[in-house]
Amino acid sequence: MIQIAPSLLSSDFTRLAEAVRLVEEAGADVIHVDVMDGHFVPNLTVGPRVVELLKTKTALPLDVHLMVDRPDEVIPWFLDAGADWISIHAEATRHLHRDVSVIRAAGRKAGVALNPATPLVVLQEILRDLDYVLLMCVDPGRGSQPFIEASHEKIRALRRWRNDLSGDRPRIEIDGGLNLANTPSLVRSGAEILVAGNAIFNAPDPSDAVRRLKAAAEEAGGR
Ligand code: DX5
Ligand code: ZN
Repeated sequence: MIQIAPSLLSSDFTRLAEAVRLVEEAGADVIHVDVMDGHFVPNLTVGPRVVELLKTKTALPLDVHLMVDRPDEVIPWFLDAGADWISIHAEATRHLHRDVSVIRAAGRKAGVALNPATPLVVLQEILRDLDYVLLMCVDPGRGSQPFIEASHEKIRALRRWRNDLSGDRPRIEIDGGLNLANTPSLVRSGAEILVAGNAIFNAPDPSDAVRRLKAAAEEAGGR
């Protein structure tokens, strides 16, 4: 099943609750929350208090993407805030296994995010312990950047690798540069959770954008 995960990063930060309600009503499956610390990436966004409040505004899972150095220090904050999914960057931690274990021990879904230049092989020893892998298709830090075409081969390689494990986990989430035009080919490459910020919140009609992305993804139909 393909899931649409609107990224609030491109929404109006003074009206987050409205943004969440709008995409939920339009059929979004997950709410993607980008947490940036000003160190791992050159931008600052939101902290656990915002996640805690968003949790009271939606029934959808909150997918918290931690673009922070030393994620071990903040994972407990986001667990307490009610994050349903938490992804951490492989590049940002010295103890990936420990951090993933903390998230899973709390009964939440754990993901590892990889920057565009980080090879899949860093997941070799941990792939089976992950609920999802988040492949960045732009350099993290801001929305509305152009999709890096080489990401297709990385998605396909991860899909082949996972098929060799003969399971449906970890699921493959892609983040950055997604739009209506490239959605079908991304789904055919193997993407299953589609994060979209600019393509939804900067569209003339964000509800319609969610519906069209979902329809395009479903029509492309996975593999
Ligand atoms: C970028 C964030 C993304 C971002 C994607 O660092 O992780 O989630 O919102 O935005 P678009 O869809 O605009 O490329
Ligand atoms: Zn993100």
